[in-house]
Amino acid sequence: MTGAAPIERVLFTGEEIAARIREVAAQVTRDYQGRTIKLIGVLKGSVFFLTELARHIGVPVKIDFLGISSFSNRSGAPGVVRIAKDLDESIEGEDVLLVEDIVDTGFTLRYLLQTLAGRSPNSLAVCTFLDRNSRRIVQVRVDYRCFEIPDRFVVGFGLDYNQLYRNLGYVAVLKP
Ligand code: IMP
Ligand code: MG
Repeated sequence: MTGAAPIERVLFTGEEIAARIREVAAQVTRDYQGRTIKLIGVLKGSVFFLTELARHIGVPVKIDFLGISSFSNRSGAPGVVRIAKDLDESIEGEDVLLVEDIVDTGFTLRYLLQTLAGRSPNSLAVCTFLDRNSRRIVQVRVDYRCFEIPDRFVVGFGLDYNQLYRNLGYVAVLKP
């Protein structure tokens, strides 16, 4: 279902996404044997990915969300990020897996990692659906990634353009 989105081309179909998420979930399951994972989703983009990932993780999982506002200018100057909706529960002593929709410049992720690390989790790792490494400005650690993508704006499976197209079941490049 395209929702009449102005799509140039599909990068990953729903089937490809489902298969890849299962692989990453299996990897996470192996790495966290014997532990409970606190999945932290960054609203709103990561929601579709997080639910699909969580369904296929084979160790106990807790879920929490945080919302951020970022102000960055189009020239790529450092983005200012702040927490607009904080977590409901403490992460002290928890094995936290931060779930992102996409890591682009890395500013958002760096801010989130610094903030969460200051709250004394037992461990802190990052799982991103998409990674656009070619645009990275600040180096951040990404532990799990589903797909590397080219330097094109994409929508679908949680990613939006002006809040639209998050509900597409695939990832696509928008027409310019
Ligand atoms: P950065 O890594 O701090 O540059 O920011 C990443 C954030 O920018 C993501 O969480 C998305 O909200 C947004 N973003 C970056 N690239 C795209 C894209 O291609 N489509 C939709 N949102 C994007
Ligand atoms: Mg985001």
